[in-house]
Amino acid sequence: MAAGQQAAPGLTAPVLGIESSCDETAAAVLAPDGTVLAEAVLSQLADHAPHGGVVPEIAARAHLAHLPGMVADVLARAGLRPSELGGVAATTGPGLIGGLIVGSCLGKGIALANRLPFVAANHLEGHALTARLPWIAPDGLDFPYLLLLVSGGHCQCVLVEGVGRYRRLGGTIDDAAGEAFDKVGKLLGLPWPGGPALERLAASGDPARFAFPRPLKGRPGCDFSFSGLKTAVAQAVAAYPAGALPLQDAADLAAGFQTAVVECLTDRLAHAIAMAPAARTLVVAGGVAANTAVRTALATLAARHGIALLAPPLRLCTDNAVMIAWLGIERLRLGWADSLAAAPRPRWPLESPDLLPR
Ligand code: KG4
Ligand code: ZN
Repeated sequence: MAAGQQAAPGLTAPVLGIESSCDETAAAVLAPDGTVLAEAVLSQLADHAPHGGVVPEIAARAHLAHLPGMVADVLARAGLRPSELGGVAATTGPGLIGGLIVGSCLGKGIALANRLPFVAANHLEGHALTARLPWIAPDGLDFPYLLLLVSGGHCQCVLVEGVGRYRRLGGTIDDAAGEAFDKVGKLLGLPWPGGPALERLAASGDPARFAFPRPLKGRPGCDFSFSGLKTAVAQAVAAYPAGALPLQDAADLAAGFQTAVVECLTDRLAHAIAMAPAARTLVVAGGVAANTAVRTALATLAARHGIALLAPPLRLCTDNAVMIAWLGIERLRLGWADSLAAAPRPRWPLESPDLLPR
């Protein structure tokens, strides 16, 4: 994060969070202790589904159409005028540039007009710190802890050492886990996004019928790879005449694929746990964390290694503004704020040294 403009330490007023980096438009107001005073999320799924994926132009226009009204609504429900806030945090990266411009400019405008500190929020840091919300971890969640972030756009394992301090232990070398679910869902004729539908289909399938590869399994480190697995499913599907994949075969393919993903994730995570012995908790976030097979396998893995598994409620695993407001609180109470000149950054890795004030 660019050179911090000092905010007053000892935050006492609520913080507004704004999220618009991908296909969820979201706003939330949190009290300094993390209590959610108001929140709203509008998914653009229906706008993008006919195109089989997120269309950046449609996303940006939808954020522009909905965000100002949504922010006014959450402030009204929280019973606050903008001037009564203690700060504004808006996602400034990484993500789709159009949405980042819409959300960060709105946040900066509110901060400027009301002389409030502004936090240029890193979306990934929002995911990383969510589990520290006091009502999620009532006994507190101390640093360091492990974070597995598995969504449609991200697949990485990070050691969270403090606010602004992240050590990447590994990440995908090709597709993100959710992206693999979506691509395989498409191959099996499922609606986009493929993850939830594929999980339902897999429930009636035989995971042992198709012998799919487990990319990188057993290799050192904790990088991930899913594209070879997706290609193996594509080859299996190609053995059927076009449009003639029997339902049971599709279910068996889905189950085989899902089991392979779960085995890859747990194998890589076992390495991450060994790489970071000081971490006593594994936090999982991102849309793929909704998958029951993934959650169950991670719980078993954590138990085997004597560490806790913390999976925030689903609505906070996927994109939301509660996590952005909370990130704002974590930073503002350290006295860290950003310049209104902070530019939106489509690429902004979590391990960037500029997440710490210089
Ligand atoms: O975190 P998220 O809502 O959005 C971003 O990608 O930022 O994650 C969406 C991803 C999609 O790829 C979707 O297919 C996947 O999460 N997903 C799932 C499940 N629910 C959502 N993947 C597997 N099983 C699920 N139940
Ligand atoms: Zn996200």
